[in-house]
Amino acid sequence: MCAGPSLPSWMASLPGSDAKALIAAARRARRYARAPYSRFQVGAALETTAGTIITGCNLENATYGLSMCAERVAMFKALSEGHRHFRRVAIVTATQASSPPCGACLQILWEFGGNLEVILANLRRETGRHTLSDLLPVPFDDRLLQ
Ligand code: THU
Repeated sequence: MCAGPSLPSWMASLPGSDAKALIAAARRARRYARAPYSRFQVGAALETTAGTIITGCNLENATYGLSMCAERVAMFKALSEGHRHFRRVAIVTATQASSPPCGACLQILWEFGGNLEVILANLRRETGRHTLSDLLPVPFDDRLLQ
């Protein structure tokens, strides 16, 4: 964990606002990815509403099925450290095309992070910005558990 950007929250959430520090954190986290099977390394950096950044990377396992995506590692780390309110997540891969979170990660990010801003980037540039509700327009969540 490291100190986050000092922008006020209203400014940090404007479309196109500066996400350099968050993307840089996701790029650094990606270096710790353990992806010997897919060779697809992913880094994620989650920013809380207080500006704290929590990172994650994907971690693969010989069973394949027990592997964990970078976004969920970051979210579970954050939750386990007591963070509850989130603003943005940056996700970095080495691909030219933007690489959005998988379905499982969308579900977890939605459940614990709400309508986050999702910033996609590769090793050189930002490749896309979305809101989580754009990526997961009809979510299943606790409102349906009646
Ligand atoms: N992966 C992530 O870390 N995040 C995603 O949202 C998509 C996929 C990882 C899982 C696996 O280790 C590798 O990328 C290839 O699917």
